[in-house]
Amino acid sequence: MEKIGLFYGTDTGNTERVADMIKNELGADRVEVHDIASAKASDFDAYTKIILGQPTWYYGERQSSWDDFWEDFCAIDFSGKTVACFGLGDQADYAEYFIDAVGMMHDVVLQNGGTPAGYWSTEGYEYDESKAATEDGEFFVGLAIDEDQQAELTEQRVKDWVAQIKEEMEL
Ligand SMILES: Cc1cc2nc3c(=O)[nH]c(=O)nc-3n(C[C@H](O)[C@H](O)[C@H](O)COP(=O)(O)O)c2cc1C
Repeated sequence: MEKIGLFYGTDTGNTERVADMIKNELGADRVEVHDIASAKASDFDAYTKIILGQPTWYYGERQSSWDDFWEDFCAIDFSGKTVACFGLGDQADYAEYFIDAVGMMHDVVLQNGGTPAGYWSTEGYEYDESKAATEDGEFFVGLAIDEDQQAELTEQRVKDWVAQIKEEMEL
């Protein structure tokens, strides 16, 4: 069976935990998890179904290891690949920058020919601005997880999102 590549970065461990939850929900044997801190652009060659995850830090910045990898990331050809994004953030304390980095990853995927999956309703979140929100504000361009304000919702959100991307990505 074709493997799914999950690439994540983390500063304090939350995104790694959510990456693990996603992997287990999809079936641990189907997913290969890569910490972006030690990934190479060529690691993406092995997959046509990809999941990307990162938190947003310091008022709308990318997570540090994703930031180090960014130039390589922007050169990856995503044509023929389906890509779902997820991100962690804090909608109350960073309400003007909520999961901005998800929007940045999604932009690159689109620009480089990928097919996005896993858009997620903004209902149930309270924030002011997000680069990850669609123009009409109805969706985030990936799963939004808030371990700081809504940790109790994480498990169900992951379950629902994984069920959704299983269909959308034909997993
Ligand atoms: C100093 C600091 C800055 C942050 N900046 C943002 C931000 O701009 N936008 C956002 O959505 N979340 C922001 N957060 C929240 C983190 O993204 C959140 O805590 C996340 O779960 C951390 O994930 P990690 O443990 O994988 O690094 C910030 C948190 C801290 C402590």
